[in-house]
Amino acid sequence: MTESTTDPARQDLDPHALATAPAPATSFPQDRGCPYHPPAGYAPLRRERPLSRVTLFDGRTVWAVTGHALARRLLADPRLSSDRGHPDFPIPAQRFANAQRRRVALLGVDDPEHNTQRRMLIPAFSVKRIGALRPRIQETVDRLLDAMERQGPPAELVSAFALPVPSMVICALLGVPYADHAFFEERSQRLLRGPGAGDVDRARGELEEYLGALIDRKRSEPGDGLLDELIHRDHPDGPVDREQLVAFAVILLIAGHETTANMISLGTFTLLRHPEQLAALRAGGTTTAVVVEELLRFLSIADGLQRLAIEDLEVDGATIRKGEGVVFSTSLINRDTEVFPGADTLDWDRSARHHLAFGFGIHQCLGQNLARAELEIAMRTLFERLPGLRLAVPAQEILHKPGDTIQGLLELPVAW
Ligand code: HEM
Repeated sequence: MTESTTDPARQDLDPHALATAPAPATSFPQDRGCPYHPPAGYAPLRRERPLSRVTLFDGRTVWAVTGHALARRLLADPRLSSDRGHPDFPIPAQRFANAQRRRVALLGVDDPEHNTQRRMLIPAFSVKRIGALRPRIQETVDRLLDAMERQGPPAELVSAFALPVPSMVICALLGVPYADHAFFEERSQRLLRGPGAGDVDRARGELEEYLGALIDRKRSEPGDGLLDELIHRDHPDGPVDREQLVAFAVILLIAGHETTANMISLGTFTLLRHPEQLAALRAGGTTTAVVVEELLRFLSIADGLQRLAIEDLEVDGATIRKGEGVVFSTSLINRDTEVFPGADTLDWDRSARHHLAFGFGIHQCLGQNLARAELEIAMRTLFERLPGLRLAVPAQEILHKPGDTIQGLLELPVAW
């Protein structure tokens, strides 16, 4: 799939107005028109909340969960599997067709194996361990902004700031040399966005080879990252094998930088497009922690979580049959007006805490403490240091990512 461009006609659309449009056959996922609102084409799904039928790219019909209460119930239900190795597992685009052959740690396994894997990693992502990383995150943010100020204005915020912040931090946490960032950032991008299935496969293969070689080196030259800890520490379940270590490294490296980078770029863009809310933040009318939580809800960048029913399930009068796919639209779940009144408005005064932007149940985001710390420090420092921050091109010209991957901006030209 090619990159989508922002459609000027839909920029800053009013989602309520679209709720009255005639219902199209709903395909899923769709590209967003305005990068911070759910696609206009999801209007029928909003009307049918909490459960709909949608069509995937391959013509297959699956269930789409769009209600908050139902999503929490189903994401905690072990009859919905995350095992991507199953031939019927739903995928959002053709390029992921071969993904089944690869081992995906955590996200791609069910309990009890999932629990064994997660227990090995949880200590590294605790509130306390992430709290101890905060000075390092602040230092990284300060250094990047120093460089940006020296060289600009203008600047391209994704490459100068939004991507390097989480990339540098996850490298330090894992023990991956940041000097190799151009290599793994390019592979992560191809792995998520293709364009073709061959590109995705090759990117994953190259990333696995790189991380495998790094892990082999670390056996004789230990460092102080999480990968070193996993290699050299005693585990109650015995040593972690090489394949497992590589699978951990791949998911942590990718999830650790792509997601947060998208939140920083799209979060900044969204604030610049909401001057009143930005003024309230600048005037101290709210805290960055509140802003980050509401932005997580509002933007729902990981939109379209996938599961497969491995048993029949009765759901509010409908039956999800064994072998059927289920997708969770977090962008609609997080705009369920029963839980978030006035959900289409960015509102610092609401309680956004119960959003499902990090998922729910056993697969709820392992890196959420880290993501929150990075976002709080990055956004607070960016707006404090550059009070005149503004878009350097018209909003309509800013390109965003297609609907079948994590949402975010391709580039964000800014001035100050
Ligand atoms: C704002 C940034 C982030 C967002 C919005 C986000 C979102 C999510 C979501 C929605 C899931 C659940 C997927 C599912 O149930 O199918 C998830 C899982 C996961 N995330 Fe994040 N994530 C973010 C940052 C991070 C970071 C910084 C890391 C760091 C390593 C990370 C690591 C993971 C891992 C390992 C899982 C799988 C957990 C499991 O299956 O037990 N994420 N994330």
